[in-house]
Amino acid sequence: MGATVRIGDREAACAEGQPILDALLRAGVWMPNSCNQGTCGTCKLQVVEGEVDHGTSPLDTLTPDERVSGLALGCQARPCTDTVVALPGGAATRSTHELRDFDATVAGIEDVARDTRRILLRLEEPLRFEAGQYVELVVPGTDQRRQYSLANVAEEDKELELHVRLVPGGLATHGWLCRDLAVGDVVRASGPLGDFHLPPAEEDAGEPMVLIGGGTGLAPLLGIARTALARHPDRQVVLYHGVRDEQDLYAGELLDDLSSTYPGFGYHQVLSEAPDETSLRTGFPTDAFLDDVPSARGWSGWLCGPPPMVEAGVKAFKRRRMAPRLIHREKFTPAEPATTPFIQES
Ligand code: FES
Repeated sequence: MGATVRIGDREAACAEGQPILDALLRAGVWMPNSCNQGTCGTCKLQVVEGEVDHGTSPLDTLTPDERVSGLALGCQARPCTDTVVALPGGAATRSTHELRDFDATVAGIEDVARDTRRILLRLEEPLRFEAGQYVELVVPGTDQRRQYSLANVAEEDKELELHVRLVPGGLATHGWLCRDLAVGDVVRASGPLGDFHLPPAEEDAGEPMVLIGGGTGLAPLLGIARTALARHPDRQVVLYHGVRDEQDLYAGELLDDLSSTYPGFGYHQVLSEAPDETSLRTGFPTDAFLDDVPSARGWSGWLCGPPPMVEAGVKAFKRRRMAPRLIHREKFTPAEPATTPFIQES
């Protein structure tokens, strides 16, 4: 039996077994969200009235004490009764692009770097999203989903671009996306999801920005940087792309185009395992930022990639006096219990 979820002056119908976050986003009602897997804690909310089933909420994301105090993870909790929830700190909700399911046809596949593919998905109906958000793909023959950031700007709403890196043994990439997928295949997906995007144009002050991406963490940064520059063509935007070695680099042509179009745009490719004779920068992208930028006071910062890189980036930004509210992050989180040290299929 379904239930109703109310938040502020908005409400959504929640089908039996449907998580609160899913129901609200499908009704176009925003609440904070990031991983949609129960691991980040971004979607924590207060249950004001009613009862919820915490489902598979991990204990390290939602502690027993938090459950007793009425907190729940929106992406995991299912209402057992009609329920009223509130955002922590009394934050207000707002409208957002509606989450929806859709089928997409594979329109292009290009191997752009070692174990890295650019996949284009054509849609019948445009998808409304903000640059930087992600979609979930349903792995054929399973009920499993994998998350991939969009490299698009919002206007590119009928052909979605995903950057996919092969994960050895990964359920989605190993046999499917990086091997069997063919142009013309139909992919089942849903989106948009996530809060990793710029504020609305009217609230975007045009502050300087630094973006740091690890591997395919570059994808959402391309959409965010292009959107930011289209809004404020003179804005200072510095992008660092960190990879292991030159074989992992891609998107250089697009980055060169941005450099020649926008005087305030600059980018650096940084290799962590470089041969002695490379002309590129070496080390970690977060250290390159520290070397280049003496003060990031008043800047915004954007980080996407493996958790250690994101955490190093947050520290680096704070060392350069960036305000915490201007630090935005998207961590690649493990998609399944890891058999290798880190499985990332985002
Ligand atoms: S724990 Fe729910 S969005 Fe991450």
